[in-house]
Parts: sequence; structure tokens; C-alpha cells
Amino acid sequence: MTSLRKFLFVLLTLSTINCFSINIIPYPQQITKNNGQFIIDNQTDIILENGNPAIKMVVSQFIDKINTVGGSVFKIKTEKSNQSRKSIVFQLVDSFKNESYHIQITPRSILIQAAKANGFFYAIQTLYQLFPANIYANKLNKQTKLTLPCVEISDYPRFKYRGLHLDVSRHFFSVNEIKKYLDAMAVRKLNRFHWHLTDDQGWRIEIKKYPLLTQIGSRRDETLIGHYYQNFPQKYDNTPYGGFYTQDEAREIVRYAAERFITVIPEIEMPGHAMAAIAAYPFLSCTQEKIKVATKWGIFEDVFCPRDTTFSFLQDVLTEVISIFPSEYIHIGGDECPKTRWEKCEDCQNIIKTHNLIDEHGLQSYFVQRIEKFVNSKGRKIIGWDEILEGGLAPNATVMSWRGIQGGIEAAKAGHDVIMTPGTHCYFDHYQGNPDTQPIAIGGFTPLSKVYSFEPVPAELNANESKYIIGAQANVWTEYIASDSHLEYMTFPRVSAMAEVLWTLAANKDWNRFKQNMPKEIDRYNVQNINAAKVFYEIQSTIKALENNKLELVLFTDNPFSKIYYTLDGTIPNNNSKLYKSNLIIDKSVLLKAQAYANGKKQGPLYVKPLIQSKISGEKYKVNNLNSWYKGGSEFALTNGIIGSTKTTNDWVGLTGDNDHEVLYEFDKLTLIKEISIGILSVPSLRGLISPEINIFTSTDGNNYSQTANLNLQNEITNEWKIIRPKIIFTPIQTKFVKVVFKNAGMFTGNNQKNGKSILLIDELSIN
Ligand code: ACM
Ligand code: ZN
Repeated sequence: MTSLRKFLFVLLTLSTINCFSINIIPYPQQITKNNGQFIIDNQTDIILENGNPAIKMVVSQFIDKINTVGGSVFKIKTEKSNQSRKSIVFQLVDSFKNESYHIQITPRSILIQAAKANGFFYAIQTLYQLFPANIYANKLNKQTKLTLPCVEISDYPRFKYRGLHLDVSRHFFSVNEIKKYLDAMAVRKLNRFHWHLTDDQGWRIEIKKYPLLTQIGSRRDETLIGHYYQNFPQKYDNTPYGGFYTQDEAREIVRYAAERFITVIPEIEMPGHAMAAIAAYPFLSCTQEKIKVATKWGIFEDVFCPRDTTFSFLQDVLTEVISIFPSEYIHIGGDECPKTRWEKCEDCQNIIKTHNLIDEHGLQSYFVQRIEKFVNSKGRKIIGWDEILEGGLAPNATVMSWRGIQGGIEAAKAGHDVIMTPGTHCYFDHYQGNPDTQPIAIGGFTPLSKVYSFEPVPAELNANESKYIIGAQANVWTEYIASDSHLEYMTFPRVSAMAEVLWTLAANKDWNRFKQNMPKEIDRYNVQNINAAKVFYEIQSTIKALENNKLELVLFTDNPFSKIYYTLDGTIPNNNSKLYKSNLIIDKSVLLKAQAYANGKKQGPLYVKPLIQSKISGEKYKVNNLNSWYKGGSEFALTNGIIGSTKTTNDWVGLTGDNDHEVLYEFDKLTLIKEISIGILSVPSLRGLISPEINIFTSTDGNNYSQTANLNLQNEITNEWKIIRPKIIFTPIQTKFVKVVFKNAGMFTGNNQKNGKSILLIDELSIN
């Protein structure tokens, strides 16, 4: 072979192999790619030699899916009708572990092996992912050729509990939407749906013995508008809101999920988050006073009182719940239960005495243990949020660790099963992209990459303790998620990253491969009409300080196939603008605008970032009165070039104290300065008030300061959530030390829930 022909041959061979990129999420444990392909057509038999009804159901699901193409109506056969025909064989092999499967595709046959229906089901999910994304369309295009690459796949899950949660109390989602949610879970091999059915803002499951739970408890008079902290005073929409599932509908969800090998775990919250139940049946609370279903978010003092009458009620409720949900687990909540009512309640105090409990935490533990005993007596187990550790863990409880991983570590060390759901990585109500481009979220920042990076087994656990980490779960709380499309936006595609965390062995995870697979994964969501977020295409940035107060900006997207174009002069960039290649050096304040493109098309929103560069960029400074809740993310928060967002307090430095607030900066040498500017965030509902007055002091020795400038901001103080950025210009002065003193705005008394010392929130100090 001449070298040219050899080259062409190699090229052709490679392109034959590579025309199928193996793009499976979650990624299987072992894949071998071979040459060739299998085409499903009317020369193909689908064979199940022997299988139980569950396996027959799974194979029928597969046949239903592919029957719309291929020129033939496929049926399950027990053997090949003719030796010359091709075959897809589903073969029972008892030695396979639960949920595991093996696929071998050659040009003449596909052999699928598993021991159980769930293994065959996951094998089929994997096959679907080898087809073009439109396999997920309800009706396949007749032209779609069902071609599969010749591969061999051995696969099994890392964790047995692979969960996704949905809060239907804060907002209600229809049976159809939940089915869509379950469909998307199944595609990604998730197997537990945690259905948060009750909370302060609505009771959502029909209980026949207590009809008021849904007649009264499923409806609230109105709903808070905007973010909890957005308006001061808070505003409401004056529109009744409600909804619940009948028991028949809940059973339909259970059935639909089971067909997809998903177990539905119902959550009935207790003893806290119980206002909707108490609104329906006031005898359940300590005060027994009539209350309303909550109309805003948060943690409320009215909780279940642990009297015998309450237990009778809860046992009746759980009895009906258990009859609807065959799940091994019943989730009983247990989180965020204030003890204030219990402290003042005579009945509660008597129970504490009678049972020799230490205090109200002991009473919470008594509550959970008594419920556990009942649930266990019905042959089921409880899961509780990690607060159930406080005051002593119920003997057989599984712990869902949400306030970080510490609760999970403690529970695993004590020999309890644990499901990891730390807010840092698993809360999909958090922002997933630049808050300025996103719909209002509760807060936080949990982008796709962070979800992907999650490791459910903490390094602190030894091999034996690690066995108690049975899996993890993404939680979707819906305070700020009112519509189906928004629910889908927050949940997907972060679920894809979580699926890979849960299914794929840590050693087989690869963020670069995952990113390359994302465009097709987004196509899958699109074909299923799921409004997955496209934040994957958005520009992100990191910034770091260089010598001489220059800043270095790194721009990137998660999409490895995109190019970024930018401008620094305020004009809108297009793909003729400057192409971003590597680090961008910022040596003056600029307005950066950037746009990502792929295949010549715009991707994601325009990225707009004002960058502040000054004589103190990247330098250290000192502040007094630092509030530990608001550290701004780093010790350079005030000089990192980035102005905080109006949507979160993540980037803001908060100062609280009795005296005035100060930021002190020391230059290396005498320096001429003439202007200072500073951003201040006004958030009255968080006690974040604008300072009434700023005074600038300078000094050459750090001992003797003189007043250099003054700015009165009294007229800027506002009830709105907004940023101001005053600039103070003064006669140029040589100085070594600069002290910016903010007059303390004093006590904040306008909000009966949040009264206390005001907080000054500042970001990005510039001195020139
Ligand atoms: C929780 O997020 N309160 C469990
Ligand atoms: Zn009580």
C-alpha cells in the first residue's frame, strides 16, 4: 500500500468507527468498541427464550418503541424463525447482579443478558442512547434508520439508591408533569422518586379518614411574590392556590414509576412543616388555635404537638399512605422543627417528664422513634432528614444528609444507612448559572460541573462505614418554581450529572467526556419536550489578580465545541469580533460583552460583565465588623474586579457591629489618589441597609489620619433591593493609608421577623 492509500485507509477505518460516538449518560462501567454496525430491520427477530412477566413487559416496551420503524411489526419470539435472519436476543443469566446487564452487538446479532427485569430495562435504556436522539420522540420518523454500532458493554450501578426529589407542596405539579419527570429519570437510570407531599404551604395527598386535609389543607389564600427578601415589606399575589392528588392518581404514579423501575417514596412531614395539616385540624398543634395554610416560605413555629391524639392521627394517615405506596421506605421528614411551642406547652412538658427526656430535642427524638415503631410494625422503614440525629437516632432509621455531609458521616459511623443530599451539590433550587441571567432562585450556586464533581462517599469513612452510604439524591424544592417549564429548567440537565455521579464508578467518571456528550443529551431533552436549561452553553468566567493591579480574566463555556467572541467597548459582539483565545488582561475598568458561537450560530445569552480595575485591584485590605454570613467568597472579595449581583448576596461583604464600619487599605508607598467608589447593596428584608454617610480618611504614617472627603447618602436609603455605586471625587492627595468609614445605619426595626443590627453589604472598592 502506498503511504497515501494507507493514510486514506486508516482515515476511512477511523471514520467508520467514529461515526458513532459512544454517547451514553450515565456512562457504563465498561465499553469495548468494535467495527461494524447492526441495523434493525424486517430481517430481524426479537427473541426472549424464557422470561417472567416483568421481563416480558420490558421487552414489549422495547418493541413498542421500535415498532413505528423498520418496515415490520415486531413481536416477541422464543426462537429465530429462520437461521439466516438477524436477532436481538434477551437472555436470562441468573448469575448477573441486581440491575446489571451485558450487551454484545455484532453485525448479525444483539445479545442482551441480565438476571432481572431491571437489568434488561437498563440495557434497553443504553441501547436507546446509542440511537439518534429522536428515538425519544413519541412517533419516530419512518426514515429513521435504527442502526447500532458494534460494541460490547458491561454495566452495573455504583449505588443502589439513585434519587430525585420533588416538592409538590410549595407548588403543585400535575400527574402528567410527574410522569414526564419519571420518564426523564428512567432514561438516566435513576430509581427512587422522593415525593415531598406535605408541607406548611399545602397538603397534597388525599386521606380518606381526614377529608379536611385536602379540603382545607391543600389550599392557601395567596402566595408571596418574588424572592423572600426581594420586597420590603413582602408582597402577595392575592390569588388562591391549591391542588392535591387523589389516592387513585397517586396509585397511577406508583404504577407508572414501577414500569420504569422507579420506586416512589412518599414524604409525610413531621413534626415540623405541618401548618397545612394544622390548618385543617387545629387539635394537632400545641395551642390548638385555628391557623391558615402558609402563604410564604420559611420555618414556622406551629408544629405537631406530640400528644396521643396527634399520634393517632398520624398513624391513620400513614396507614393510608402505606396502602398506596409499596415502597420499603416512608419518609417522615423531621427537618427544621422549631421547639418554641413545645417549650411553652403543658402537654409537651408533661411528656418530657413522663418519659424522662432531656429536653425538647429529646422530645423530637421520642416523636420520631414512636413513628418509626409504627412504620416498622407495618413492615416498612423510615427515612428522615439529618435533624433526626438530634436527641438520639431512631434504631432503624435511614438518614438523608442535607445540611452538608456531617450528619451522613455521623449516621454511617453509627451503622445507619445514609442517602447523601448536601445542599452544596444536590439542591437544584440553587442557581446553575450567572444569577443575572437566571430566573429567581433561592440562592446558592450549583452549576452542572459542581453537581458532576459530587462524591457521595466522604473520605472520612473507612471501607466498612462507606457501605452505609447507599446513594444520593437531587432535591428540587419549589418555592420559586411555579410552572412545568421552570421545573424542567431547574432539574434538567443537572439530573444528567447526578445520574452519572450515582451510576458510574468514580474511576470511570470524566468531566471532559461528559461535556462532549452534553449536546446530544440536550437534544434528548429537546426531543422529549423537556425545557432543559441551556446554561451549558453560557459563558462563565474566572478572574485572578496579576502584578501591578492587572486582572486576568478567563472565559469559558462548558460546551467544548464553542468559540467566544468579545468586545470591551460596550458594543454587542458577533462572530467577527475579537476571538477569545487565552487569558484576557484587564488593565482598566471595562464593560466586557461576550457571546459564544458553535457552528457559526449564537449559543447562550449575551454575557455582560462590568469589570472594575483600580490601584488596589487584587490587593489585600482590612475590614472591621465582618459578619460571618457574608464573607464575599474570598479575602479579595472587595478587590477582585467583580461587582456582586443584585440577585444573590454571595459576592457581598457584610459588616455588622455597634460602631462604624471601616475598610482600611495600605499602599506599598506614597500614592496619589483622587477618587474612590464602592458598591452598596440595599436589602432591607435581610437588614441590609445603605450607610447614611461615608467618610474618607487618609494618612501617610497609619497613625495620624485626616478627613479627605465625605459623602452623605441619607437620601439613598430605600426599602428596595438594589445596588448603588457612589463615586467620591476629591482634591488629589498623596497618601499611604486610606480608611473608608461607613456610618453605622443602626438597629433595623421595620421587620418583626428580622429586627436587629443592620448589615452593610459592600462590594468592589475602587481607589484611583
Ligand atoms: C430541607 O431542605 N429542609 C430538608
Ligand atoms: Zn405541645
